[in-house]
Formats: sequence, C-alpha cells, structure tokens
Amino acid sequence: MPHNARDRITLQASLRDYLEQLREEGLDGLPIAAPHPRVEPSAALQAAGSSAAGATPSDSTPETRSTAAGGGDLFYRYPGLAQTANLDELRDFIGDCQRCKLAPLRTKLVFGTGYPQAQLMFVGEGPGADEDLQGEPFVGRAGQLLTDIIERGMGLRRAQVYICNVIKCRPPDNRNPEPDEVASCESFLFRQIDLVRPRVIVGLGTFAVQALLKVKTPISKLRGRWQEVRGVRLMPTFHPAYLLRNPADKRLVWMDIQEVMRELKLPLPRRGAPA
Ligand code: URA
Repeated sequence: MPHNARDRITLQASLRDYLEQLREEGLDGLPIAAPHPRVEPSAALQAAGSSAAGATPSDSTPETRSTAAGGGDLFYRYPGLAQTANLDELRDFIGDCQRCKLAPLRTKLVFGTGYPQAQLMFVGEGPGADEDLQGEPFVGRAGQLLTDIIERGMGLRRAQVYICNVIKCRPPDNRNPEPDEVASCESFLFRQIDLVRPRVIVGLGTFAVQALLKVKTPISKLRGRWQEVRGVRLMPTFHPAYLLRNPADKRLVWMDIQEVMRELKLPLPRRGAPA
C-alpha cells in the first residue's frame, strides 16, 4: 500500500478515536466516520509460515511503517509524542517518568519487549511484582502461561511478537490501575501501537481491553469477537492470570488464539489445545 494511503488510514483512525473520546466525555452531535478500510495481511505473511508473526510485511518496510505511524499531537496527551519515530525514541521520551502517582512506588518502569515490527502484539494490564523487579512484561507465572500460548500454542517464539501493558508501572498490592494513572500512561501504549503497527493485537483481560476500546463492557461479552483499535484488529481474550485460576476457560482462549492464527495465516496445529 502506498505510504500516503497508510498515513490517511492512520489519521482517520486517530480522528475517529478522538471523536469517540469526545463523545464519551459528553459531547454529542459529532459525526463518527464509518470504519476505515482494514489493512489486509500481506502475501509475505501468508507465505512465511511460523516466522510470519514477526516478519516484515511485503508492502511496508519498518521505515515506512514508522513514518506512517502518527495521527499527530491531536490524539496524544503529550506534545512531541507524535514525533517519536521508533520505540527507542518513545522509551527516551518517557524517560524516568514522574507523570503519575505510581512513579515513586516502582522499582523499574516496564516499557515493553519483543520485535519492534511484530505483526502480533499482546497488551496486558500492568506490571506485577516480578515484572516490576525485572523491568520486563509477563515474566511471572501468568507470563509463563502467555509464553506457552505463544510458543507451544502458536508455534512462534516470544521474541517474534511484541508484548506490553496499558500502564508501565506497578500499582501497589496489585490493585487495579486508577483512571488518572491510565490517563497519564495510555498515550504511550497508543504510540507503541502506532509505531509497531501490528496486524493483530490480542487484548489480555478486562482491564486491557476496556482501556484499549474505552468501554465498560465485561471481557466475558467481548472475548472472541474482533474489535478495532488505532486501525488494527483487536482480539479480546481472557488474561493468563485469570486462566491460572480458571483453567477450564483455557479452551475459550485457545479458540480466540486460533482465530488470531487464521487471521495471520499461521498454520494451525492438528492436535487440540496445548495443556
Ligand atoms: N499481568 C499483566 O497484565 N502484565 C504483566 O506484565 C504481568 C502480569
């Protein structure tokens, strides 16, 4: 797809998200545009088999994907954020963040990890105790289960996908992030999405999906149904920590993951769900 067409799609997505945000804040009467065209999976992805989710698509180099990402300062909370051209610049922009009340409580800020041009992105809620210590998302027990889903379930390596959270610092006692903390941090997540430009995002659990979509619908109603955020297809599913408490629902997550694999043209295993 030509760069200017991608730019247009990204800008449309930004404007639409912004208008929806205004509407949720109480402004009505603004026209919400019809859904913008979806970027189809590339031929490269279709051909590349198990390395596909980390492959660079044939119709955009990393450079064009970075420069296409944006939407301008209109969308982001922080001036200058739209000018960050890659994930390293974004990490530098965030710096030793003191923008919310979680900052003094953290050990390490947990930015995100994985392949910067991944076609598949996982978004969780926020760091737990292990992540806070190590500075990497999903490294505790829930993280091990996520790694199993990626590696044993999808046949990918963890390093081929991109993994991050809605908020980058651990809330005390693993409480849910508060609205002001999300408001301080969410622009960084949206910029990560715009820079990575994955084909598919998997939203892990209620909190992440509600933050991505700006809705209050429970995950039980959202899971398994395609949504869209920032022009990218979003598959909501249960959080791995929930699965540790409710292993019977692994079956549902496996269904959602298979849907993602179909979308990415990844080969489905003949055997059933990984244990
Ligand atoms: N749970 C999350 O949502 N994110 C992590 O990084 C770890 C656990």
